[in-house]
Amino acid sequence: MSENKLILNEKTKLLTEDVLDYLDKNSNPLDIMYSYYECAIMEVETKFNVLNRQLSVYYDHNPIESISSRIKSKNSLVRKMLKLNVKLDIPDIMENINDIAGVRVVCSFVEDIYELEKSFLSQDDVKLIQRKDYIANPKESGYRSLHLIVEVPIFLKDEKKMMRVEVQMRTIAMDFWASLEHKIRYKKNLQEADLLEISNDLKDCAEQAHQLDMKMQDIHAKIVNAKHSAPPNSFSEIIKNRLSNRAKG
Ligand code: GTP
Ligand code: MG
Repeated sequence: MSENKLILNEKTKLLTEDVLDYLDKNSNPLDIMYSYYECAIMEVETKFNVLNRQLSVYYDHNPIESISSRIKSKNSLVRKMLKLNVKLDIPDIMENINDIAGVRVVCSFVEDIYELEKSFLSQDDVKLIQRKDYIANPKESGYRSLHLIVEVPIFLKDEKKMMRVEVQMRTIAMDFWASLEHKIRYKKNLQEADLLEISNDLKDCAEQAHQLDMKMQDIHAKIVNAKHSAPPNSFSEIIKNRLSNRAKG
């Protein structure tokens, strides 16, 4: 099939039979590529689970609330290839489409996001390809999240492959907003004027969600500080303090 046949039907915007034919004939290489992306997702999820376990001991709370992942559907992959003018060729797809594998890490507090990012990116097998900080610079819609495109190795039977994964890091409030915004915005029967008003309302909600995040983080910091200045209450802490006082003379 020639490349220029890979078009959407202009009227219906549905994929042409040619594309579906191509997907059928090439399902094996595509399936292999998809299986590599699934492995990359496992690698990235494990890295975040390990960090969550370790940081939970240090900080007395789990910085990660949830981790979810998704693989781009084949239809949506083809649509993106058309949009970016990417050839029907596996290496070309892997080089140019960065979000076939996606991992979403939902954190308790904004500062947890940056702490986890630092630890994740400092690992010597994680290569940063692109970073977009929509927390510091929210999108026009009000959307906030930290986006990282990284490459991680997957270890196969006879080779090691570097695979790209899009990591989206956000708080529970940002996640709540993004999920609802997505549902609301894509309602089909919205008029132009309604859309403008709704967009403004949604932006306002995003700002309120951010204020809530900041307030919750402050409260958490107060609790942590109070804990550290509180008198020792466990038997072992009392003994530890006495021993250290005695050592000081
Ligand atoms: P895509 O072609 O959509 O992948 O965009 P991009 O490559 O320019 O990346 P970008 O950083 O803009 O965002 C990619 C992803 O972030 C999207 O697929 C969504 O999951 C999410 N996202 C970005 N902007 C918004 C937004 O305004 N609202 C919501 N709900 N999600 C968004
Ligand atoms: Mg995307």
